[in-house]
Amino acid sequence: MNEAIRPNPEVPPPVIAAPQLSVIIPTFNERDNVVTLFRRLETALAGVNWEAIFVDDNSPDRTWDVVRGLARQDPRARCIRRIGRRGLSGACIEGILASSAPCAAVIDADLQHDETQLPKMLGLLQADTADLVVGSRYVEGGSADSFNKQRAGASALATELARGVLRVKIADPMSGFFMIRRDRFEQLAPQLSTQGFKILLDIVATGRGSLRVKEIPYTFGSRLHGESKLDSMVALDFLGLLLAKLTRDAVTLRFLLFAMVGSLGVLVHFAALYTALEAFAVPFPEAQAFAAFCAMTSNFVLNNFFTYRDLRLKGFAILRGLLLFYLVCSVGLLANVGVAFSVYDQEPIWWLAGAAGALMGVVWNYAMSGLFVWRKR
Ligand code: GDD
Ligand code: MN
Repeated sequence: MNEAIRPNPEVPPPVIAAPQLSVIIPTFNERDNVVTLFRRLETALAGVNWEAIFVDDNSPDRTWDVVRGLARQDPRARCIRRIGRRGLSGACIEGILASSAPCAAVIDADLQHDETQLPKMLGLLQADTADLVVGSRYVEGGSADSFNKQRAGASALATELARGVLRVKIADPMSGFFMIRRDRFEQLAPQLSTQGFKILLDIVATGRGSLRVKEIPYTFGSRLHGESKLDSMVALDFLGLLLAKLTRDAVTLRFLLFAMVGSLGVLVHFAALYTALEAFAVPFPEAQAFAAFCAMTSNFVLNNFFTYRDLRLKGFAILRGLLLFYLVCSVGLLANVGVAFSVYDQEPIWWLAGAAGALMGVVWNYAMSGLFVWRKR
């Protein structure tokens, strides 16, 4: 044992026993649910040494404030308040890493998951019959009756995709309710994606069959208060996760989206150029500058909406971001032309030189946009 963490012989050991189980609860605008959930955990986990770690992304409804109130009365409750970050997966990862219990569970705050299954899940991990226990809606005895038709269809499609494309064997890889041994989690954590919301799928796919997984049935209930945070854009995050796992992180969805937006920008450029020249008889240099301006602006708007939706700029920051984006793209254009020139100089093949320049431009714009425009805060 490390000298520094050996118990101090002069100080009696603390009376509080270390928790066997950490329950991680990601929250965003759940102020009316957190206390109820905590009380239900108390009942379900009687006899277990447990703690609850709420990971709140600075909810506008001040969920973090409610959790702090709870923590002042009961040391088993803790609150991690994250500022300037959003995302279910990232919140779960951070919560698990903040705990030191040998087992960690993830459960939604809105009471849609069944906390009474937790002791059974813990028993399976403690008996060492599994590394990961999944609360599953799609095994015998489980159900998701509270889903409407559309949501049920989307869930089934995503499950099929995950199982087919990533060869994940479990029945409900899209579940958000599970318990894992922390040593196994800690091994996988560096490869997990913090973007998106499918943390369980990510864990199972990243484990590549090395985890012993058990599924137990549960019934996905109805939300107590508030509303779901998952919008239609989560489909994009999901595709991103599939892509990243398939290519072992070589291709990220962000880069792909950035490049797609860039390609669309070329079309915008030509449309604007054509309109300025033909419809308004603007001289070519001015028309070309106007077209570039239009393309950069539309690229900025689309990137802010899709590519960087988790870091989306709002309010006054939009203006600052737009000006920086113009700057980044202008330098990118110089890099583009410079590279194309030097390639053409060596090998006068126009399309090769053009492609090399364009590639240089998009890589430059992407790298610099990530550094200066949509910075990780
Ligand atoms: N910290 C944090 N940050 N928490 C979040 C965020 C976020 O950006 N978005 C959502 N949450 C929290 C919610 O507050 C809730 O406790 C939990 O994550 C689930 O979010 P919901 O908005 O209730 O999602 P859902 O009910 O549509 O989806 C759930 O069911 C799916 C099964 O179909 C989630 O549990 C999914 O993980 C699960 O796959
Ligand atoms: Mn929910």
